[in-house]
Amino acid sequence: MIIAIDGPAASGKGTLARRIGEMLGLPVLDTGLLYRAVARDTARTGARLDDAQAAAAAARALDAATLDDPALRGAAAGEAASMVARIPEVRAALLAFQRAFAAQQPGAILDGRDIGTVICPDADLKIFVTASSEERARRRWRELESRGEAIAYETVLADIKARDERDSNRAAAPLLVAEDAHVLDTTTMNAEAAFAAAMMLVEEERAH
Ligand code: CDP
Repeated sequence: MIIAIDGPAASGKGTLARRIGEMLGLPVLDTGLLYRAVARDTARTGARLDDAQAAAAAARALDAATLDDPALRGAAAGEAASMVARIPEVRAALLAFQRAFAAQQPGAILDGRDIGTVICPDADLKIFVTASSEERARRRWRELESRGEAIAYETVLADIKARDERDSNRAAAPLLVAEDAHVLDTTTMNAEAAFAAAMMLVEEERAH
């Protein structure tokens, strides 16, 4: 079973993907980490993040073993990721890795922005997780605080809005709800309720 989980910044798709993965015993790929790592590696060469050639080279050379770098979880890394994610050559270079991950038996879960639309258009189940930008900013602010990254709530909210705008309006694989996706608005749900709602969709799909 392939499960595609997409949604805007800090919508809780990562937490949801991990929990469903644990429940079903399926591997999970947080595809946002790939773009975060490409931005890190591009910056390391001294190139600008809008340098398509340099970013594409970093994407082609990406070492999946470096994805657990804690620095990738910070706010700046998310912002940088959305800069390189606009570059079609970067997206193309990361496609095969994501498709191969999805093709594992007995299945896989991938979370990102374009999983249901571009990477796995034939996924068995597509969930689009969303929440109001204020609620997403609150969640991300708490997460960053707990990791020791002191940052103002207003800064987090502005970052989330800027990223939504950039991700939704880019030409290459924009953030879109796939036609056959189930939309899960978690604005008034805690992580437990969101997980329960998602598991109902999984059970429905399994009963097919
Ligand atoms: O965790 P959060 O939602 O804040 O970010 P993320 O999922 O790690 O993604 C960081 C950035 O990578 C996003 O703002 C997108 O620009 C880009 N991204 C993408 O273009 N396609 C994906 N499948 C995943 C992430």
